[in-house]
Amino acid sequence: MTATLITKANKGLGYETARRLAEQGHTVYLGARSIDRGEAAAAELGARFVRLDVTDNASVEAAMHLIDEREGRFDVLVNNAGIGDLRAGGDGVTAASTLEQFDTNLVGVVRVTQATLPLLRKSENPVVVNVSSALGSFATVTDPESVQYRFRSIVYSATRAAISMVTVRYAQALPEIKINAVEPGLTSTDLIGNAMGQTAAEGAEAIARLATIGKDGPTGTFRERAGVLPW
Ligand SMILES: NC(=O)c1ccc[n+]([C@@H]2O[C@H](COP(=O)([O-])OP(=O)(O)OC[C@H]3O[C@@H](n4cnc5c(N)ncnc54)[C@H](OP(=O)(O)O)[C@@H]3O)[C@@H](O)[C@H]2O)c1
Repeated sequence: MTATLITKANKGLGYETARRLAEQGHTVYLGARSIDRGEAAAAELGARFVRLDVTDNASVEAAMHLIDEREGRFDVLVNNAGIGDLRAGGDGVTAASTLEQFDTNLVGVVRVTQATLPLLRKSENPVVVNVSSALGSFATVTDPESVQYRFRSIVYSATRAAISMVTVRYAQALPEIKINAVEPGLTSTDLIGNAMGQTAAEGAEAIARLATIGKDGPTGTFRERAGVLPW
């Protein structure tokens, strides 16, 4: 059975991705910072809760230890945890919030990915999905016709552009692991104040699709539901 870890899956896109993958027979480890919320979500989905804060080394190491003990390996990592102030234009940007967003959205992805490598290397088909955003695509945010053009998400966009580079360079450095970035699409979740966009169930489709690619699947790409996205 495919063993899968999703960072931050107690709600939103991570939760719906966990639902889809559990329905497809994956053993899903549902990461969350809160024990209460994580255990409740895992029970709803038939997943296994693992406490995980991507900004905390000890928490990540403990999560890997638990999965190693139970599975002895690891097949799919979905780096989903992400934060951001999507409307913080010029005056709203601070150094502190910049550090915080990079700590979760970039350093957190690197921290978790590095920690999972020993277990991923024991898989026959290791896959990493980095949940990113078209707000990190240079081609998209400079297109006046795009929805993303209207968001002044200076720092959040920078964290997502950084994820693109990390995805490409990891894919080149680790050809034995398929590593791709995905844009789920504008989705009504807490992250954007549940203000607009598709449902989380719809947004999870693109993530789950990349999480279930076979051995001949792509690596080092940036995709959305409709196909490849420009960097
Ligand atoms: N929604 C969209 O339109 C959209 C579009 C493109 C990409 N994305 C990406 O999709 C991913 C999932 O976002 P979502 O929209 O589903 O968000 P969400 O669940 O509504 O909100 C983000 C949540 O992440 C959790 N979190 C924050 N810091 C964390 C940490 N250090 N470790 C673990 N969990 C942490 C928090 O949950 P708790 O307080 O419960 O711990 C926070 O509320 C993110 O990477 C986001 O950037 C979203």
